[in-house]
Amino acid sequence: MRSAKDFFAPLAVGAPAPVREIPARPSRAIHFFDPSNAKMAAKIPQMVGTVDVLLGNLEDAVKADNKVAAREGLVEIATETDFGPTQLWTRINSLDSPWVLDDLTRLVPAIGHKLDVIMVPKVQGPEDIHYIDRILAQLEAKAGLTWPILVHAILETARGVAEVEQIALASPRMQGISLGPADLAADRKMKTTRVGGGHPGYLVRQDPIDGDINSARSIFQQDLWHYTIAKMVDACAAAGIYPYYGPFGDIADVVACEDQFRNAFLLGCVGTWSLHPKQIEIANRVFSPSVEDIKHARRVVAAMGDGTGAVMLDGKMEDDASLKQCLVMVELAEQLAAIDPILKASYDAIEVDDA
Ligand code: GLV
Ligand code: MG
Repeated sequence: MRSAKDFFAPLAVGAPAPVREIPARPSRAIHFFDPSNAKMAAKIPQMVGTVDVLLGNLEDAVKADNKVAAREGLVEIATETDFGPTQLWTRINSLDSPWVLDDLTRLVPAIGHKLDVIMVPKVQGPEDIHYIDRILAQLEAKAGLTWPILVHAILETARGVAEVEQIALASPRMQGISLGPADLAADRKMKTTRVGGGHPGYLVRQDPIDGDINSARSIFQQDLWHYTIAKMVDACAAAGIYPYYGPFGDIADVVACEDQFRNAFLLGCVGTWSLHPKQIEIANRVFSPSVEDIKHARRVVAAMGDGTGAVMLDGKMEDDASLKQCLVMVELAEQLAAIDPILKASYDAIEVDDA
């Protein structure tokens, strides 16, 4: 077994030292684009500053014939674009594909200094992260990078879900994990053909009214992804990394999209994927604490003084633990306000009433 002392040693001579803490950079929306699609690629420079993360996708949704064009397109966009506060991520091809090695050996020397995070699809277990960890260290050393590229795993295999804690802890490079509902549904042999979201058949039904099973009983759709997201959130929180929802494929259904994103936010996720510009607005709104929440949180912080004991506010008990919940919101609001002037103005305008 590897000694804890070696965990933070570079995995190749000359590679940058692994980070000890994953920076809490805003990543409410990870906007996917296909770098082989000239129309899409042309829009990327104008999107800088409007979204927290731009991700050049090389994997699924890019045709096999376009894999090289997508990789080269990403090199070109990354070289020519100043990303300012916006992060640049990529999703490489899966480890069992013939393209992934070229993805890594081409991207890291060419644009490694601009890539914040590499998303690894179809992760099965910690051994997949170890493979990426070592090869990235070798390439970083060769390229003379001074800051390590972070790694993000997609949770989209049944074994990946079973081993999510080991994946989250597999390397100091691990930045976060996203749900991959489409591949995961296929791998688990779930009987849904949708990309994320609920299903009308997955429900609970109100008891029979007056014993009549044919009475008009309410039905409540349940969330197919609740178990997986909750498990992923715990694994990420325990490892000090960040959990994300993933794709929501029904672009037209902005209402259900917002519901799924909000469920993920409430459960602990920090962001989600965006497959269309209109999902960016939804994600930015949903993954930012509301003005009401921040107003309440600041009121609790003010009322709790040194943070110990209990107070009553509007008939509700607040104590050390509820203060910590409020601090999660306040800290997130501060991180987001630092890069989002409109959000900052809305938080700055809050007046905290007297406790
Ligand atoms: C995403 O990659 C998914 O499979 O849902
Ligand atoms: Mg997938």
